[in-house]
Amino acid sequence: MNDITILAVETSCDETAVSIVRNGREVLSNSVNSQIESHKRFGGVVPEVASRHHVENITTVIDDALTEAEMTMEDIDAVAVTEGPGLIGALLVGINAAKALALSHQKPLIPVHHIAGHIYANHIVAPLQFPLLALIVSGGHTELVVMKNHLEFEVIGETRDDAVGEAYDKVARTINLPYPGGPHVDRLAAEGEDTLKFPRPILEGYDFSFSGLKSAVINTLHNKQQKGETVPPEEVAASFQASVVDVLSLKTFGALNDYHISELIVCGGVAANRGLRTRLSEMAAEADINLHIPPLQLCTDNAAMIGAAAYYYYTKNIRAELDLNGKSTLDL
Ligand code: KG4
Ligand code: ZN
Repeated sequence: MNDITILAVETSCDETAVSIVRNGREVLSNSVNSQIESHKRFGGVVPEVASRHHVENITTVIDDALTEAEMTMEDIDAVAVTEGPGLIGALLVGINAAKALALSHQKPLIPVHHIAGHIYANHIVAPLQFPLLALIVSGGHTELVVMKNHLEFEVIGETRDDAVGEAYDKVARTINLPYPGGPHVDRLAAEGEDTLKFPRPILEGYDFSFSGLKSAVINTLHNKQQKGETVPPEEVAASFQASVVDVLSLKTFGALNDYHISELIVCGGVAANRGLRTRLSEMAAEADINLHIPPLQLCTDNAAMIGAAAYYYYTKNIRAELDLNGKSTLDL
């Protein structure tokens, strides 16, 4: 089969990203403009601000991706774009840019699911081996997905309330750490002990719930403060992280066991968490599981992962028309 080169666009949250990927694995360019600095002062992503930044940046990021790959649109076989889930205004900027490129250069348009992208980030590092279990942990998602073949997804568990990254960011705010708080909590956790023994929220099946844990942290701090006690922030961080890591690892390894799967992929921004990585590595070694965690720049939102997944959409003849709309929620 001929080489297939896809230009992929991702604007579902606060990263304006464009990448050119050949045959689903070879990243020819990966251009990302992060808006974190603009959202920091609000303590989280402000959808309206995100959309405006995407509008300002998308053309430059597309140009950068083509330049970095030393290509023009003539060299591109198809344009892929994240269809959802995500912030609707943000998604629409990428979708409209992708439509304009597809229409003006007569290229097929491919709609890609954001979570499929996160999973396929790992395909860039090493070809996906099936069956596999993917744990997706980010600011917007906490999901366990079984895959038996390319693009065959079975979501077996998800969060019923807060995503794990969201819980990290909220807990960080209560101990006065800047946004995004996950990396700061992670760093502090290494300096403390699990002294506060927060609850381990375990639901039936493989679903998650983190809002109760987040409230337990806030209430504990509040009660202690009322009694005039101070709690060192590293103890809060270590105790919160211990609970999160216990819950995520227990559910993940339970699913691997129940589904008789030996390939585990962890992706999304929280996959950078040192506590989680250490625990999963130890458990994987013990249970003979092949654990794959992509490098950080492929764990967080990027367009290379969308281009990687898009190759399989392309070969399965999945196309969008020019009436493609963004979807804030979208089943995998
Ligand atoms: O995948 P991502 O870049 O964006 C979303 O799609 O949400 O994930 C960002 C999330 C934020 O909530 C951030 O605090 C969290 O990932 N995060 C971490 C760490 N690094 C990033 N959470 C815990 N520990 C980390 N080391
Ligand atoms: Zn994401």
